[in-house]
Amino acid sequence: MAILEVRDLKKSFGGLEVFAGVNISIEKDQIYGIIGTNGAGKTTLFNIICGVLRADQGSVLFNGEDISKKPTHKIAELGIGRCFQTVMPFKSMTPLENVRVARATAGKKNKEREKFSIDEIMEITNLTDKMHIKTQELSLPDKKNVEIARALACNPEIILFDEVSCGLSGEEIYSRMELMKKLSKMGITVVVVEHIMLFIKEICDQVSVLHSGKVICSGTPQEVARDAGVIEAYLGGKSNENIGS
Ligand SMILES: Nc1ncnc2c1ncn2[C@@H]1O[C@H](COP(=O)(O)OP(=O)(O)OP(=O)(O)O)[C@@H](O)[C@H]1O
Ligand SMILES: [Mg+2]
Repeated sequence: MAILEVRDLKKSFGGLEVFAGVNISIEKDQIYGIIGTNGAGKTTLFNIICGVLRADQGSVLFNGEDISKKPTHKIAELGIGRCFQTVMPFKSMTPLENVRVARATAGKKNKEREKFSIDEIMEITNLTDKMHIKTQELSLPDKKNVEIARALACNPEIILFDEVSCGLSGEEIYSRMELMKKLSKMGITVVVVEHIMLFIKEICDQVSVLHSGKVICSGTPQEVARDAGVIEAYLGGKSNENIGS
């Protein structure tokens, strides 16, 4: 059974149809990539999964349970974590305080799933040396690390990363990839939205491509890179066997 499934999702903003029937099925422990051009609906998809937005039609199933009508805090409590495209930590607090608040507000069910102590979270997000500095004084990559640390503090079973590598250097991107692989090995299912193709190619088991309101292709990164529809719609009409290279 899929850990997360979206079925026939439809969503419009006024006259703008973002989803015209989107289906995605994510197996447990996978690293799953969602790609698509700007405005394809990747963030909207995460917003619907997390209950920030409601779909017009269709459903979201988490471990087989329909969560489409549940409020955001219940969805988080069930085990869906999320990192936003735009960083939103509590800026006047330190990383350690941010993570403590997140852990304190995690529900009882989440505590049963605990995989990392707060110290371990600080370490794997490279924040140990900076955990007492006010978050507003940190660099953007470190603020993004605080976002990841907060999400991990809630003990998610699956975590959605929305462009957490945007604006990072090569080394920082590499360390993000390592972190995601580590989370996956620890039994946390990872869903990533990324524009960096190398990232997708290196870490994803499966990828779905969103285009014009639909998933136009799902498969391994290699399968997706060879798909004629994806090449036309997303890769600028050029064949790209070596996606990301
Ligand atoms: N709350 C909203 N109200 C109206 N339109 C919206 C809203 N949220 C998103 N949109 C529109 O829906 C479309 C999909 O937006 P979304 O942010 O999901 O795209 P995206 O794939 O995440 O893009 P990007 O790669 O730039 O982050 C865009 O045209 C956007 O302007
Ligand atoms: Mg987006």
